[in-house]
Amino acid sequence: MTPLMQAEGIGKSYGGVVALSEVSTVVNAGEVTCVLGDNGAGKSTLIKILSGVHRHDRGVLRVGGAEVEFASPRAALDRGIATVYQDLAVVPLMSVWRNFVLGSEPTIGYGPFRLLDRRGAREIARKGLLDMGIEIRDLEQPVGTLSGGQRQCVAIARAVHYGAKVLILDEPTAALGVKQAGVVLRYVVQARDRGLGVVLITHNPHHAYPVGDRFLLLKRGTVLGAYEKSEIDVAELTKQMAGGAELDALQHELARVIES
Ligand SMILES: Nc1ncnc2c1ncn2[C@@H]1O[C@H](COP(=O)(O)OP(=O)(O)OP(=O)(O)O)[C@@H](O)[C@H]1O
Ligand SMILES: [Mg+2]
Repeated sequence: MTPLMQAEGIGKSYGGVVALSEVSTVVNAGEVTCVLGDNGAGKSTLIKILSGVHRHDRGVLRVGGAEVEFASPRAALDRGIATVYQDLAVVPLMSVWRNFVLGSEPTIGYGPFRLLDRRGAREIARKGLLDMGIEIRDLEQPVGTLSGGQRQCVAIARAVHYGAKVLILDEPTAALGVKQAGVVLRYVVQARDRGLGVVLITHNPHHAYPVGDRFLLLKRGTVLGAYEKSEIDVAELTKQMAGGAELDALQHELARVIES
């Protein structure tokens, strides 16, 4: 099976700063690829390359096996790569339904008399959310009044509804409590079960492990480790994230300090 998306030896510098070097990973249909790493590890840089915001300056990016260079996020979206950013996913003052159809608004009438089909748009949003089992009582309410978790869910449902093949989520659970994070992760699983390839960026191995099929650990722009789920357990993943050997040394040090 050809992966939906592949990164091969991707590198990126900002001026003199090497933000990413020699990063490779795959995104398969019906799987979740998790990208983990500490602050400044290069997670956002990687997804900005995958989503057409930035251009890589080394390596090869493939979609469906063919090499691509996205000129813009729109170009990536046209190839079925949809990205949900932490805060930019929605327009806070617009209603839920208006946000849902944003950029793909249905219209009625012709030429200069073309108008937004408000009834049609509400119906698309209602159906799209219902399809994913998302309950929002009032579709007229501004998206800004939804909880952070609900906002992520609306953005995920929207990407699924408009036929995304790859769904990229940049830290969707970062600002959420345990319960809300669980809800968002449930929709990640739903998107996966519908055959999308999901790229999930997170700091939290406990959010990544239950939903992930493969794990890419980044540190200071390089790959610290790349594992299939069968190759690693959550304890080891957490340890690697925390710095592995460095953490062992720290624990040893702490034990000595406490003893004396
Ligand atoms: N536009 C930019 N110009 C210059 N340097 C940048 C730019 N964006 C990122 N960097 C640098 O590239 C490196 C990787 O940053 P990146 O934002 O990808 O990390 P991250 O893993 O997403 O971190 P965080 O968890 O804090 O979001 C950092 O050293 C950062 O300072
Ligand atoms: Mg980031």
